[in-house]
Amino acid sequence: MRTITSITEMQQWSSIQKKNGCRIGLVPTMGYLHEGHLSLVRQARQDCDLVVVSVFVNPIQFGVGEDFEEYPRDLSRDCQLLDQERADVVFAPLAKDMYPAGYNSFVEVYGEITEKMCGASRPGHFRGVTTVVSKLFHICQPDLAYFGQKDAQQLLVVKKMVEELNFPLKIIGVPIVREADGLALSSRNVYLNEQQRQEALVLSRSLQAAQQLIKDGERDVEKVRVHIKDIIETSPQAQIDYIEINRASDLASLERIEGKVLIALAVKFGTTRLIDNLLVEV
Ligand code: PAJ
Repeated sequence: MRTITSITEMQQWSSIQKKNGCRIGLVPTMGYLHEGHLSLVRQARQDCDLVVVSVFVNPIQFGVGEDFEEYPRDLSRDCQLLDQERADVVFAPLAKDMYPAGYNSFVEVYGEITEKMCGASRPGHFRGVTTVVSKLFHICQPDLAYFGQKDAQQLLVVKKMVEELNFPLKIIGVPIVREADGLALSSRNVYLNEQQRQEALVLSRSLQAAQQLIKDGERDVEKVRVHIKDIIETSPQAQIDYIEINRASDLASLERIEGKVLIALAVKFGTTRLIDNLLVEV
């Protein structure tokens, strides 16, 4: 496995491989890898001739007062894990190369899809994501790029950008990987103390309960929302950021549950903000 930090070198490598007819899969990450990230890498390994994993904690997708400085980092451990997964290249650029002084170009998807949920709580977040992902696509030139369903809104926003800006690649969504007790894996789980880690189970539990309620015939979005809220509020430390139930394809608001819906949560435990979601089809 090769580690590349230079943008030019990465772009040249990808150009050569593509000329040779190789299919490149890209897995964009911010590092501190866990089984969730690795499931994306394994999927890419199955589908593609060459697998590139980017590791870059992207400063422009963090808001003021968010955890950019504290975000966990361990590149040598990440490289070991990726070597075991038989990735071909780890692309780990420097922030000063990605965003040199005077940098002023951004890619933004407008509308409801970026305005609600995490877009409302984290202004500018998706603009930071779509900008870095566009740069990574231009540098790594993937045929396929892999994103987790864990960040359901991010997946939708990136898909829309790729479609509307005619990027010559396909986005593949990969299911959420969870701990045995249901907690969705996240690099941010390391921030949780033991008590918070236990209480954080209300996220997956409330989603499961909502799914059951819908299975039992409930179709009123507000009633399902209240059911989720009641369960989350059994955790003394949980502070709800949002509980949203929207149409899965474009996050349009709903009053009744019909078709494919996305139930999405963001809840803070202390200073740690966790997200989780579930797709339900009726
Ligand atoms: P990061 O949080 O490191 O996540 C990288 C990828 O791993 C994302 O596509 C995310 O959805 C996926 N992922 C994380 N936890 C997962 C889990 N438990 N199950 C399945 N997939 C999971 O998302 C980002 O980085 C950044 O915003 C990025 C796209 C790299 C742009 O900077």
